[in-house]
Amino acid sequence: MEFSLKHTSADRARSACIVVGIYEGGKMSPSAKAVDKASSGYLATLARRGDIRTKAGDCTLLHSVPEVGATRVLVVGLGKADQLGLKGFRDAVAAAVKTAASSGAHEMLLFSLEWESGDMAPADRAMHSVLVTGDVSYRFDRFKSRKPDGGATLSRLVIGASGKPSAAEDRAVAEAAALVEGVSLAKDLGNLPSNVCTPSYLAATARGIGKEHKFKVTVLERRDIEKLGMGSFLSVTSGTQEPPKFIVMEYSGGKKKDKPVVLVGKGITFDTGGISLKPSADMDEMKYDMSGAGSVLGTMKAVAGMKLPVNVVALVPTCENMPSGTATKPGDIVTSMSGQTIEILNTDAEGRLILCDALTYAERYDPSAVIDVATLTGACVIALGHVVTGMYANRPELAAELEAAGSSIWDRVWHMPLLDDYQEQLKSPFADIANIGGRPAGSVTAACFLARFAEKYAWAHLDIAGTAWKSGRHKGSTGRPVPLLTSFLMRHASR
Ligand code: BES
Ligand code: MN
Ligand code: ZN
Repeated sequence: MEFSLKHTSADRARSACIVVGIYEGGKMSPSAKAVDKASSGYLATLARRGDIRTKAGDCTLLHSVPEVGATRVLVVGLGKADQLGLKGFRDAVAAAVKTAASSGAHEMLLFSLEWESGDMAPADRAMHSVLVTGDVSYRFDRFKSRKPDGGATLSRLVIGASGKPSAAEDRAVAEAAALVEGVSLAKDLGNLPSNVCTPSYLAATARGIGKEHKFKVTVLERRDIEKLGMGSFLSVTSGTQEPPKFIVMEYSGGKKKDKPVVLVGKGITFDTGGISLKPSADMDEMKYDMSGAGSVLGTMKAVAGMKLPVNVVALVPTCENMPSGTATKPGDIVTSMSGQTIEILNTDAEGRLILCDALTYAERYDPSAVIDVATLTGACVIALGHVVTGMYANRPELAAELEAAGSSIWDRVWHMPLLDDYQEQLKSPFADIANIGGRPAGSVTAACFLARFAEKYAWAHLDIAGTAWKSGRHKGSTGRPVPLLTSFLMRHASR
């Protein structure tokens, strides 16, 4: 997908499909007005007759509009003037992209900068137009022998500006385009089956990003992981033949003295549950259990693509969780890199076991903040569904920053309680800590487990079990929370 911003007029522009907005009651956006004027009131006539619907997101595709340069004119309803807001704006763009794509147009000229939408600046509208278009036009068809739509897709979005675009708008489009690249990578990694997307594949992908953008990527092998004393991480990989990896990516866009933000991503490329085997229904979905890792890789790609002036380190512990004669068994006790011993009561609570060692490893960077991202608990899906990501933090400022970043880029989080009271549930009679805390508050106790390994720095945990992918007939990776993390880092960079 190609994105650009162009100074042009709606009536004269030569395009496969121009998109203009019209409000309920017939009020037209400036570009709709220009088309209406050129065509001697064609749009107004249709609107009066009720042939153009104007509820937010309604689409009417017109062909051969008189005296207009474009092949197709797509009129999008914007609802009641002044009531659009960010959500409505994004829905209207999404509806337009879907309609334009199914019309067979390869290119779309979208006049959305002028759509009145709450307190969004034109640069925000440009950014969200690009993000939504990238999201809606994403396809994953590399395993289809015959491409679903004959391979024809919308491949170019031009955002039309009636005035000369400002530097802020130009930058917003370029940055959003880089963000779309990161989101698409995270989606690809999530959607790839576990026989392709192995820990080695994730490592090769990380190396590729480092090579393309010229920053350091190191991949630690099993013997390195053993030397570091990551007994907790190693206990998860003990049932599989597939080699584990510990990926370290170091992007230094900031000043040397700036402390880095460390991102940690759960990279379980398949989660069978291990000896505490999962039921077989929908077990295929556990290929997405590396979505934390995928989103961290996607964020690194986006950040490097934008050349953001920040220092960011990505840590990705990655392996499979499989049952076998060599697998870890319930009741086994392991020693983590931090020295804390863990009684593994359920081998299906493996995410926290690989993350805790990565959190200890993060200490060496003297980080300004550490954010881990993980499809950690089914309990989080029960609590929050697929709308918001569960967020925990040991510093209120960090939680507030993530909340603000998430709302502005529409990749929202919900602040969950990280209270010491819940630590009770993790007590073990034999080791320092147990890896499960029983059924009540399963997402909270998982976060409390991680908190024990993140005491030395500002830390936040994102449980993306519900937000990283969609199930059902339209199942697939969402690419979340790449927008959230990237937005957080962009705000960090501009401070
Ligand atoms: N990867 C799963 C969490 C998960 C479940 C993500 C469903 C998305 C959808 C995780 O490793 C897991 O199995 N967690 C267990 C923890 C339990 C054993 C304490 C869970 O949530 O059931
Ligand atoms: Mn599990
Ligand atoms: Zn898991």
